[in-house]
Amino acid sequence: MNRTILHLKTIFKMIFKTILGNGMGMLILLFMGQVLQAQPVSLQWQPVAPGVWKVQVGDPQPIDLLKAGGAAPRGEALQKLGDRSFPLRPEACYAERQAGKIYLRFPLQKEEQLFGLGLNFKNVQQRGRIFNLHTDHYGGADNGRTHAPVPFYVSDKGYGVFVNSAQYVTVYAGTGVRKDSPDPPRVYDRNTEPGWDPQPYSDAVEILVPASGAEVYIFAGKTTLEVVQRFNLYSGGGVLPPKWGLGFTQRVPSLSTADDVRKEVAAFAKNKFPLDFIGLEPGWQSKSYPCTFEWDHTRFPDPEAFTREMLGKGIRLNLWLNPYLSPASSLYEKMKPLSGSHTVWNGLVPDVNLPEAADLYKGLFVKQHIGIGVSGYKIDEIDGFDNWLWPDIASFPSGVTGEQMRQVFGLELQRLTSSWFRERNTRTYGLARASNAGGVSLPYVIYDDYYDHRDFITALCNSSFIGVLWTPEVRKSGTAEEWLRRMQSVCFSPMAMINAWADGTKPWSYPEVAAQVSEVAMLRMQLFPYLYTSFAQYYFEGKPPVRAMNLVEGFSFDPTVSTGSLSSTDNPYAMAVKQDIKDQFMLGDDLLVAPMFAGDKKRKVVLPRGKWYDFYSGKYAGNAEVIEVEPGLDHIPLYVKDGALIPMIPPVLHAPVKGELLPLEIRHYGEAPGSLALYDDDGETFDYEKGAFTWYTFQVVKDRKNKWKGVANLPKGQKGGGQYGAVSWKFMGE
Ligand code: GAL
Repeated sequence: MNRTILHLKTIFKMIFKTILGNGMGMLILLFMGQVLQAQPVSLQWQPVAPGVWKVQVGDPQPIDLLKAGGAAPRGEALQKLGDRSFPLRPEACYAERQAGKIYLRFPLQKEEQLFGLGLNFKNVQQRGRIFNLHTDHYGGADNGRTHAPVPFYVSDKGYGVFVNSAQYVTVYAGTGVRKDSPDPPRVYDRNTEPGWDPQPYSDAVEILVPASGAEVYIFAGKTTLEVVQRFNLYSGGGVLPPKWGLGFTQRVPSLSTADDVRKEVAAFAKNKFPLDFIGLEPGWQSKSYPCTFEWDHTRFPDPEAFTREMLGKGIRLNLWLNPYLSPASSLYEKMKPLSGSHTVWNGLVPDVNLPEAADLYKGLFVKQHIGIGVSGYKIDEIDGFDNWLWPDIASFPSGVTGEQMRQVFGLELQRLTSSWFRERNTRTYGLARASNAGGVSLPYVIYDDYYDHRDFITALCNSSFIGVLWTPEVRKSGTAEEWLRRMQSVCFSPMAMINAWADGTKPWSYPEVAAQVSEVAMLRMQLFPYLYTSFAQYYFEGKPPVRAMNLVEGFSFDPTVSTGSLSSTDNPYAMAVKQDIKDQFMLGDDLLVAPMFAGDKKRKVVLPRGKWYDFYSGKYAGNAEVIEVEPGLDHIPLYVKDGALIPMIPPVLHAPVKGELLPLEIRHYGEAPGSLALYDDDGETFDYEKGAFTWYTFQVVKDRKNKWKGVANLPKGQKGGGQYGAVSWKFMGE
């Protein structure tokens, strides 16, 4: 029967090809969706971009993640990345219909490592785990319930699988063992053989999609990073934040008044601590939980003048909200028929799939906030918990189900709010507690209340596989040491934020470490050109700014490195790269960040192949080895690749603004010559999408006397940017 169906499809395809030409035939096939049976059939992949294949399994669905996020593939950038051949044996990828649901199966090899499958906090390697991908506030276990339950996994064998479904997708990432397995596990006797394993070896990833259809994608890549790049570019390409978004941000206590905010801004200036945007928590509104989205005039008598005043001081405003509409709102009656069947904290849940509902919010948000100069939002409480949000049995007037809404609500709010800024040709950068696949290009960073420092760093590593940004926010700490260690980490993340909404903590609240905290915040500001260029790589090439170590080329286990046994004493490096490395990461191409945690005096750092140098001293640190470091309190351990050029500006209190000319210091590390392409644009608008940007280039080579020499190429008459003037060089190895 299956064979007959597949055969008929092949014949249809040939007819379409002959009559309509190849492209059109494929289109029709895609539109039809692959017909499924109650037995496994091999998937019929169609190329949709170089190195990207898609199959529509079963019925097309009215809503999916890419649609909800509004993601459009970045065709030109994907072309640039080049083509690759199909990375799996196509006949080994199956689909079948089971009780109205879709069941998918993909092969796994021995030694294959899997990454991704949502924003996980405990582990980076995901093989051998089960995930029910479900938007939720992270609850302490990597089981799929998380802020970004992205149904995408990346294999270190050069491919990734993405299920573009807005359902609660369950992924058995190498756990099930089929009796018809082509590579079954060896059977051991538990009584007598030491190799017995309660979870025998599995040679497949199995996926259950609780819907009558789903789009499935395969992304190929020469390296694990290249797979992620394709996924990111296909999903819209990475976000390029406004320059101010990479500066420092503080959030003030909920009931702060305009005067309190003025005082906070003055205190930052007095303490010479960098500040680019300030976050107002729930109390800026007349009512919140549920929200009116209108200003409280007792606390903020003249919001427009206040916003202008802050902008005049170089401070942007970010407004907290959760999207549930208060009965006290003037929009309430109009929104009632356009909202879901259930309320959240007594507020209406707008069905933002209806243009009328989205337009009601747009009108209010533009009038109250965006139109008067507010720069962004923190979109809270869109993730969970179950007993706070609408139940899955909730219905929405657009026909989107309660379950689908749970998976896409955060994504849709990010898309809508950012589009209202885009219409004014202004970039925004904010916070959201829920996201999903399809949100790569949306200018929001995920955060939560979980507050475990180590797990926050693991989440930072994991964010890099799934096209989301994460900040390990700092609130308050039990000790000065913990405060410092957390502040050191957050400065090497996509958003350097203190979230003092409950207690008003300041960067200098722990006097014993105030100097070190200020130093690391200033270092973040000095590294601005490096950071901004790393984000430009996210936009242009799909390379995430923060990267797990497994995205470093050649980092996964390579048997050629191993000499003899893989014991941690004989070959610690080969052993280490085989294990889960979840407490260190790369920022951009050249900087390795190894955070310290309170209570620890030393730590191990795994340095990938190639020579690495200490960021602060320029001294050689190691090559393909596990080093132990004891950095003291002053520094977060940072290492730089051989030959890297790190561009820095002087310590500044605000991210560079249009028209400001800053000198550059380029630091060269190591023994190899190096080059750097440094990105710049106006930092505020979307003109870069039309080519208004500049790449500065720099080289470091040896001169005739064998001394290092730096060459700068600062193009005149740039189309965008023009931030950098005089260049000085620092050869860290000398
Ligand atoms: C929480 C949120 C916090 C803070 C607080 C204000 O849900 O995660 O960051 O904004 O609400 O009530």
